[in-house]
Amino acid sequence: METISDRDRDYIWHPFTQMKIAQPPIPIHSGKGAYLYGEQGEHYLDGISSWWVNLHGHAHPYIVQKITEQACKLEHAIFADFTHSAAVDFASQLIPILPGEMGKIFFSDNGSTAIEVALKMAIQYWHNQKIHKTKVVCFKGGYHGDTFGAMSVSGKNAFNKPFWNYLFEVETISPPIKGEEEGAILQLEKILEEGNVACFIFEPLILGVGGMVLYPAKQLERLLQVCQRYGVITIADEVMTGFGRTGTVFACDQIKEQPDIICLSKGITGGFLPLGVTACHEKIYQAFLSEDKQKALLHGHSYTANPLACASAIASLEILQSFSSCQQRTMIEKSHTIFCETWKNHPKLIRCESLGTILVLEYKTEGKSYFSPLRDSLYSFFLEKGILLRPLGNVLYVLPPYCIGKEDLTVIYDAIILSLEGAL
Ligand SMILES: Cc1ncc(COP(=O)(O)O)c(C=O)c1O
Repeated sequence: METISDRDRDYIWHPFTQMKIAQPPIPIHSGKGAYLYGEQGEHYLDGISSWWVNLHGHAHPYIVQKITEQACKLEHAIFADFTHSAAVDFASQLIPILPGEMGKIFFSDNGSTAIEVALKMAIQYWHNQKIHKTKVVCFKGGYHGDTFGAMSVSGKNAFNKPFWNYLFEVETISPPIKGEEEGAILQLEKILEEGNVACFIFEPLILGVGGMVLYPAKQLERLLQVCQRYGVITIADEVMTGFGRTGTVFACDQIKEQPDIICLSKGITGGFLPLGVTACHEKIYQAFLSEDKQKALLHGHSYTANPLACASAIASLEILQSFSSCQQRTMIEKSHTIFCETWKNHPKLIRCESLGTILVLEYKTEGKSYFSPLRDSLYSFFLEKGILLRPLGNVLYVLPPYCIGKEDLTVIYDAIILSLEGAL
């Protein structure tokens, strides 16, 4: 009999996959808590929250219930000229807890579209006021998604090489990692001094896909102060960091200066449905108000503010704010800290550090790129032990759903220790 993997091969083209040489995909039948279950009953401990989206565990019954209730009432409504309570309820609950003074929420479907919307908001903000500011500044080694605007602000890299001629020009600065703080500030000041800068887009505190590169909150504050001095719009990409990953609800909660725009997605619905949010300061919104229809933000997606996605986002937020979820995040954070204290000086590691619920280990290896062969060895090593971890080259990270038990965290730590102590 044909398996799901056979049928998959006949019909499906997978993301980020060289289909010629990739192993057949693993068919997943169901999920519960921190586990994914395969067709034959085998289980995988999900150490990466299924591409960083799952917050409270798979098939969380409360979110299932809220989506079901919403589906029986309204599954979708066009969001231009119409609205619905799921979107309004979610926006009104989200705005007060966002860092800074966010005035309005613009909905889309995923992280990349949240970024596209943010870039359009920032660029058109100046255009509508007839002010010539067009340049975009971003971090070297950052990542903001796979659509063309998002690729442009991720900089030219090995992932987007075929498209280099089609990406718009950006100015890049180094992320202010330890030892390079002053360089980053000087680079930013120099670019802003030259003028014509519309916005600065950044991943706060940690560059995710770029290798889980951590940098101090203090240095981000300094960069934002420079932007404020020069009247540059600041865009925080909290697509990965949002909803509790970094030890606070949002990474920007750890800094004093606040961005003008925040992008969210990934964990926003607890991992159930695709949803993107671009939140902006009221001053941005005001610059789009006019008798002239062309000054509106002429952007939208078919599934904008989908009621099912909004209902799951409300339910997920409720769980996130519960005492037990906060306790779990504290437990994960403490466990990671203790792990790092114990293993940070291991001779096989370049670094071992953590930020909130994210644990990062960089293995010593010859090739440091995403395509390092160590990546595949590490991936298979953990998968054989029933643990789903997906290294970025030689950088291994653990980013678990918050429901993970202490024992399961220990299972992951023990496997990592085994990888360090010669079993790999
Ligand atoms: C920081 C950041 N921004 C944007 C994105 C793009 O999100 P999506 O994959 O939902 O388009 C990602 C995805 O990994 C991300 O990590």
